[in-house]
Amino acid sequence: MKAIQAAQFGSPSVLKVVNLPDPTPGPGQIAIDVSHAAVGLIDILFRQGQFKDVPGMAQPPFVPGLEAAGTVRALGDGVTGFAIGEKVVPMSAGAGTGGYASVYIAPVQGVVSIEGSHVDPALAVAMIPNAAMAHVALALIAKLAEGESVLIHGALGGFASAFPGIARQLGASRVVGTVRSGKLEAAANTKLPYDRIIDSAELPGVLAGERFDVIIDPVGGAVRDQSFALMKPGSRLIVAGNAGGDWTHAVKTNDLWLGSMTVAGFNAGAFLPSHPEAIRPGLEAALKAVASGLCDTPVDVLPFSEAATAHERMESRDLNGRIVLTPQ
Ligand SMILES: NC(=O)c1ccc[n+]([C@@H]2O[C@H](COP(=O)([O-])OP(=O)(O)OC[C@H]3O[C@@H](n4cnc5c(N)ncnc54)[C@H](OP(=O)(O)O)[C@@H]3O)[C@@H](O)[C@H]2O)c1
Repeated sequence: MKAIQAAQFGSPSVLKVVNLPDPTPGPGQIAIDVSHAAVGLIDILFRQGQFKDVPGMAQPPFVPGLEAAGTVRALGDGVTGFAIGEKVVPMSAGAGTGGYASVYIAPVQGVVSIEGSHVDPALAVAMIPNAAMAHVALALIAKLAEGESVLIHGALGGFASAFPGIARQLGASRVVGTVRSGKLEAAANTKLPYDRIIDSAELPGVLAGERFDVIIDPVGGAVRDQSFALMKPGSRLIVAGNAGGDWTHAVKTNDLWLGSMTVAGFNAGAFLPSHPEAIRPGLEAALKAVASGLCDTPVDVLPFSEAATAHERMESRDLNGRIVLTPQ
């Protein structure tokens, strides 16, 4: 198979197109002929070696990528319910690698069929896995109830952009996003179902005292600090990432007590393996949301040979929506 491999940790230039043996599916697994593989911030962090000392994390040489979509190539022992050639999208599996390859192996319980849905596979890979995780985060961790309000930091980021559609689907009454000033123009033109998107540098004053039931924060740092002024008794802040890179951030637990507020973490890589029953409802909700236009984000498609360019664009923040790689 054709794959993009990082032979060592380092700059985007370590990414090279290579030929590797075709993997075959084991029991309970599906092999997928990949048509599209999405590029996420986590791929950049893996390539840079930011998790090199964390046990179980990818070590070179490795194939980055944890989101791939395509058609069923082969079924492992015991797998039923899928046909060869059927269009599918899997949730990421294992160590979060292997997606930038023309063949990807996924456990069957994390695979959803998009056959007959008319969802473009590039949009499907860009949004379905993230929207499934957003469903788990909002429904099970934040316990979002109908009529509640939601604030989403880094509103147009790959992961964050899956939240407004799922929040709407779950009955949120108001969905507000924050972006850095460089993304205000993109925010004005987004088709994602936000009621309003504001400049995070203007928090909290720009919201004129508005408080939220649920805050989704994949960014961290200053916006995480600002979030506490936007909460009320019963609010839930879901810590869902650290795109801003502030690894020393701390929460004053007595403030949570005094304000009667909740801070919860959500990391799909940690949560889903121990809660596999959450995957199927998440995927089904995600497919419905994407098919009904609730997750309409711009997607740039580049060939595998431009994987380094894709990583450079992620690092320089020169993107609006998502970048997806294709082996063809
Ligand atoms: N909890 C989970 O299960 C889960 C799942 C997927 C991802 N994540 C995490 O979520 C975070 C975002 O991932 P992603 O793939 O969505 O990344 P992404 O597409 O690059 O989005 C990053 C978002 O963060 C914003 N941001 C604010 N300050 C930033 C800074 N200093 N550097 C970079 N970005 C900054 C970006 O704004 P601009 O557009 O203005 O740059 C953008 O909106 C990561 O920490 C990732 O590990 C968590």
